[in-house]
Amino acid sequence: MEETDEYDYSVLKEIGKASYDALNYGKGLVKEGARLIDIAESVEEYLKEKGFEMAFPVNVSVNEQAAHYTSPFGDTSVVPKGAVVKLDVGARKGTYLGDCAVTIDLSGKYSKLIEATEKALENAISMVKAGRAVNEIGRETENIAKSCGFEPIRNLGGHGVERHNLHAGVFIPNFDNGDTTELEEGQVIAIEPFMTNGSGYVGDGETIEIFQKTGSPSIRSSYAREIAAFIDEHYLTFPFATRWIQKELKLESDFNIRRALTELAYADAIESFPVLVEKKKGMVAQAEKEMIVEKDSCTVVTR
Ligand code: CO
Repeated sequence: MEETDEYDYSVLKEIGKASYDALNYGKGLVKEGARLIDIAESVEEYLKEKGFEMAFPVNVSVNEQAAHYTSPFGDTSVVPKGAVVKLDVGARKGTYLGDCAVTIDLSGKYSKLIEATEKALENAISMVKAGRAVNEIGRETENIAKSCGFEPIRNLGGHGVERHNLHAGVFIPNFDNGDTTELEEGQVIAIEPFMTNGSGYVGDGETIEIFQKTGSPSIRSSYAREIAAFIDEHYLTFPFATRWIQKELKLESDFNIRRALTELAYADAIESFPVLVEKKKGMVAQAEKEMIVEKDSCTVVTR
């Protein structure tokens, strides 16, 4: 590990707290009829005003969407009546990345789903320590889901968090996938149980608003090259939203940006993160916190 990749845990705690504060602020904005773009931009603005960058665009995912919805520029969609809304927020300072999420139920009908998800996160946190096999955590999440009549989402899970890289190293499943990889002391991880009354699997939806630089291949069209340079300068290798580029470049239409992003994705210059949708359109709840693995326990930083 390079020296620059080592953690100063006090900085990690600072971005963890900022992420959690921003999440709570955003939670208060989730109301029937509120514009999704206002929620995302307000939370992003909140963090900017406190001197932080974004680890990724604020995700505001509704009902059967599990994750990765962030508004396009000029988005007119609103929080529907009785919606189940997942807010996923992360502050960034330099290469330090925060990651936490919460679910808000405006229907009053899904409190059991949300409670089960939160209980799974709580139990997972109480199990985290050096030497803990990741499938044991998954098994606990699966047991809680099943005992409450729900399915854990099997193709989503928690992850290692490295500096520069939000999804790195270890994968922490939401069911017993047989992976006995052990957590290590000093590791930074995010645990995120997802549960649903649907199938327990998500697939890629059609909407793609979040991208991330992955390489620097040669690009044919000059406009796509310009956008690639813009991404390099503004977002480095961290996830960004189409809306950010359009706003920053003050463009009325997103047509050319999307064409450029499609070309960049095709050339493997960037990765796309489509909205993740529950395969049977089940309702989805998520809870997430980030923590430092310690010898006999862990310290949650997003609090
Ligand atoms: Co995460």
